[in-house]
Amino acid sequence: MRRIAISVAVSTMSLSLAGCGVLNAAGDGASASPTMGDNVTVGLLLPEKANTRYDKFDYPIIDKKVAELTKKKGKVKYANADADAAKQAEQMQQMIDDKVNIILLDAVDSHGIAPQVKKAKDAGIPVIAYDRLAEGPIDAYISFDNELVGEVQGRSLLEALGPTAGLSDKIVMVNGSLTDPNAKQFKEGALSELNGKVTIADTSDTKEWKPEVAEAHMTEVINKIGRSSIAAVYAANDGMAGGVIKALKAAGATKMPPITGQDAELDAVQRILIGEQYMSVYKSYPDEAEAAAQMAVAKVQGKDIQFDALTQDHVDSPTNKDIPSQLVQVSALTKRNIKDTVVADGIYSVDEICTTGYKSACAAAGLR
Ligand code: GAL
Repeated sequence: MRRIAISVAVSTMSLSLAGCGVLNAAGDGASASPTMGDNVTVGLLLPEKANTRYDKFDYPIIDKKVAELTKKKGKVKYANADADAAKQAEQMQQMIDDKVNIILLDAVDSHGIAPQVKKAKDAGIPVIAYDRLAEGPIDAYISFDNELVGEVQGRSLLEALGPTAGLSDKIVMVNGSLTDPNAKQFKEGALSELNGKVTIADTSDTKEWKPEVAEAHMTEVINKIGRSSIAAVYAANDGMAGGVIKALKAAGATKMPPITGQDAELDAVQRILIGEQYMSVYKSYPDEAEAAAQMAVAKVQGKDIQFDALTQDHVDSPTNKDIPSQLVQVSALTKRNIKDTVVADGIYSVDEICTTGYKSACAAAGLR
């Protein structure tokens, strides 16, 4: 499933359709193919709310970008599944019934949603898999380089353990949901760094990425192997890192072992500042969400050259091969680079991060 960088031959579709009439009136030179105009409706299906990224960044950024690309005529119809796969299938059916022009789908269950993807396709509605690689006949995929996410987490954990890290160090792995293909890639990426260098004392997958499930499991692990024997915890995302920290505190820990995360949630950035969490993975939501909006609008408007330029990577899903894709880069977020990442990109202001209780840690980290 790893990216294969193949450059795409410019589609001939635009040429064959050019004779049909309505030429692209935008005059942006992006393509000479016909356009259905700016009255585009993009259906957006996001998976959950426990993680703040979806409502706080993904949806508003996509909404704004679609408006910008369509002279404010286009709209986004948004539905969030609350981590419920059956609910998402209904939401997707509703979008098909409403005849949206295209669907951006971030699947709760990437395998289970495949029949709906097929239905959309049969109804002439293209589907772009957003962030998670949905199965079925999708037209394109946009995500971060998810294996790299896991590698960055694994490498950071080793860095935190220092040069003496060895097989006597017991690591607990708290992975994401089995229905999310990204979780598997995060795990594989992390293991490619950790295997043979430390001992994985416990590894588990977490239903629906729920922080409380991670917390309960961590409590069991502590009871089984003993808190003081845990050298570090690989938590696949920030929400679960929060659950792990609660379990460790409840078991009497005052100083945390190195703990990873992902998503650069505000709580996690604050925990990183005070040393409760070692790192997170910073994924630029504007990069992913804006590119998704561009792909969706280009696809609906028949701007094939633009669409191809946006999807230069190719990946395979369990059901489809060579899916045109874009994989966005990620980076480690630690105490050292909060300023150069989330603050520099305008994700959070210094005021939002440096609230009461974090002032001295902020000053020490040069955040002002
Ligand atoms: C992943 C996603 C992460 C995080 C996680 C939990 O698929 O890439 O950013 O949101 O789900 O929801």
